[in-house]
Amino acid sequence: MSSIKVWDLPTRFFHWLLVLSFVGAFLTAESERNRDLHVLLGYTVLGLIVFRLLWGFIGSRYARFSNFVCTPKVVVLYLCQLIKNQAPHSVGHNPAGGVVIVLLLLFGIASSLSGWAVYEDIGADSFTEWHELISNAMLALVCIHVAGVVVSSYLQGENLIAAMITGKKLGDVNQAITSNVASLAWLVLVMVIGLWLWAWPAAKDLNWLLHMIVWWQ
Ligand code: HEM
Repeated sequence: MSSIKVWDLPTRFFHWLLVLSFVGAFLTAESERNRDLHVLLGYTVLGLIVFRLLWGFIGSRYARFSNFVCTPKVVVLYLCQLIKNQAPHSVGHNPAGGVVIVLLLLFGIASSLSGWAVYEDIGADSFTEWHELISNAMLALVCIHVAGVVVSSYLQGENLIAAMITGKKLGDVNQAITSNVASLAWLVLVMVIGLWLWAWPAAKDLNWLLHMIVWWQ
């Protein structure tokens, strides 16, 4: 096996922008003062996931849902093999990781849509608790996801976090993707940064940053 390109650039940009937006939205959730920024990051999560859903159908080989969404039987079999430390090496996402990824995407949509309903005052407060509940469930999923990534990296003897940065994993040369689709990735990045810069004045000033740093300490 050699080091081959598995994750195209749009998938990697999507992932790290999603991490940034999700973490940012969580850190700004409690304070009234950071409400606009929280909403902006929530919209970013929604936009990124809509993009990822499309990419799951038309993207490169390992980005497609058909590559990593498996039947429950396959997932259970994989988990049994994992417990016995006999799980096969996956070039793309492994079957168990695929389940968590789909759940993360669904919860991301539910979290941002319920947040939108709260912001727009739809349903007279009835969405507030749902928004909190779904977002906390998503945080729990993120913890499971990161723990799964760390455990898989250890068992597989391959740094999966580095792979999500470089796009490269171990595999046969003929399993590599042929295009990085870089131009689309840069377009996504420019659109997200463009949205942030355009909407930033709505956050009034940068005091929130100071408050966050102070809060952090
Ligand atoms: C610092 C924390 C995180 C790390 C280190 C991390 C790492 C990774 C890695 C290594 C993968 C690829 C897994 C594989 O090889 O099968 C992945 C995929 C994924 N992660 Fe994370 N992750 C983090 C946080 C998050 C968060 C906060 C979210 C969602 C809010 C998230 C959502 C996803 C999704 C949706 C995928 C699938 C990527 C795709 O195919 O588009 N991750 N993550």
